[in-house]
Parts: sequence; structure tokens; C-alpha cells
Amino acid sequence: MNDKDLFPETIVNPSFQVFLETLSILPAISPLSNKLFTLIDDPNVSITVIGGLIAEDPGLASRLITVANSPFYPFSEKVSSIRGALVRLGLVTVRGVLLTTSLFDRVKHQPGVFELWKHSLGVSRVAKALSLQLEGVMTPDEASLSGLLHDIGKLPFLIFKPQRMESIWKNLPRSGKDSDWELEEFGLSHDQLGARLLTQWKFPESIRDSIRWHHSPEKCPVKSRKSAALVGLSDTICRGGGIGHAEFPYLDTPLGDFLDVLEVQGEEIVPVIQKFFEDRDMLEMASREIF
Ligand SMILES: [Fe+2]
Ligand SMILES: [Fe+2]
Repeated sequence: MNDKDLFPETIVNPSFQVFLETLSILPAISPLSNKLFTLIDDPNVSITVIGGLIAEDPGLASRLITVANSPFYPFSEKVSSIRGALVRLGLVTVRGVLLTTSLFDRVKHQPGVFELWKHSLGVSRVAKALSLQLEGVMTPDEASLSGLLHDIGKLPFLIFKPQRMESIWKNLPRSGKDSDWELEEFGLSHDQLGARLLTQWKFPESIRDSIRWHHSPEKCPVKSRKSAALVGLSDTICRGGGIGHAEFPYLDTPLGDFLDVLEVQGEEIVPVIQKFFEDRDMLEMASREIF
């Protein structure tokens, strides 16, 4: 596979291309987060050093602790320290949480963004549950991180052209495929842009591929095909259960397409779907708490 399958090298909208270059220089936007990324990537840096840096930003520190104690990571004991949160979440997840929240922060007050946030958390939770149910596809940590990041490619569109995006989201039909208008407007779709960002941010290939092909797992390289299907299935379950986002909140892809790639029968995932419906109200509350 070459990079062209992952995302187009040149983007038809030149000013969007320039904007993306800026985003790649400052992956997490703030200088502190930027420093954190370098440290998290360095195997010789201890958790104490990373925790010390996070403590410099009380907002960030309290958000990490809130995430670690949220129902998305169900443990009976609460953590109250940065160190505890780092140990519980793991550094790769911390990196994902930092990135996602720092991008979401830039568009927080725009219509529809909370829905997208809730959707991302919902997909993360369902993906983790599916990874436990369908053993051997992905680890629960990988699944939950891929779910959290799966639509991250939508955020640069929102940051770049907030008003335009608002009017697109308002005027779209209430179901359909989001990649069509993204291609038309920006020259690449959110799954391609997600893969581009995750490549720049040096995320593991398996996570990048599961996000690149979450809408079309059958096209994914064999190595990550089932992971992409697991993320796509989680996305579809969430949309079907009303945890979608402003543009296309409803179920628009048959579950069967994903089950075929995963080589599992529908009955096998029924407990996950049931649990998702039971937890929907909690999900709403927990998403608000972290947002
Ligand atoms: Fe998507
Ligand atoms: Fe999605």
C-alpha cells in the first residue's frame, strides 16, 4: 500500500492545504501539548516527568482525571492524582485524549460539535465492548482509542470554515454519506484526513488504518481489515442508536457489511448492542462532564 491509498498528496483546495501544514507543525496546538507529545513518545522519559508537565496546566490535569474516572473507564476506585490518571489511561490513550480534546476545544461552541464529541465517546465505548466480545481483533485500548479518534478528520474542516460547515450541516439531507460532500468541498474525506493527521502525529499503523477505512473496511489492507470493520460497526451501532452527529444521525449502513468482514454472526454482538442501549443516558451525562 502506498500513501496515495491513505490520503491524496495534493489537496485541491490550496488554502486548506496551507492550513493543514500549520496543523501538522503544531499537532496539538498549544506549546505545552506539543512538548507533551515529544515526551510521551520518548521511552526514556518517566511518568513522573510527564505528570509534572501536565500539572503546569490545571485545566488539562483536571480533565485527564475526569476522563480517567468517567464511566468510559469503569473502575470501582476513583483516581485523584495525575499519576493515577496516567497509569489508568496509558500513555497512548492520554495522547489521543489530549489531541481530541484540544481540537474539540477550538470549535466547542459551534452547533453540532457536542453531538460529534458524544458520538466519538460513544463509538469509543462500543468499540471497546466489541473488542472484548470478539476476541483477537483489537486490544480494548486500541479499540477505545480508535473509536475516540475515528472522526477526528472532521475537526479541521470545522476549524477551517466554521460558518460554511454550519450551513452544510444544516442543509444536508438527514441521512446519507458524509464523504461525498467532503470530497467536493475539500478534496478529501474525513477518513482520509484522519489518516493524514494520524500519520503526521505518528500513531500506530493499526489505529491509523482502522480510522482510514472505518467506512469501507473491505478496502483496507488485510492486516487491519477486521479492526477497521470493528470501528465501522461501532460507528454504525451508535448512529443507529441515536448517538450520531448533526449531519447524519441515523443508521445508513447495514450492519451486515461489517459483520461479513469480521466473519461473525449478528447474534454474537447482541449483548454489546443491548448494553449500549442501557447505557445511553449515562453516556449523555458523562460526555457533558468531560466536554
Ligand atoms: Fe466517519
Ligand atoms: Fe462516526
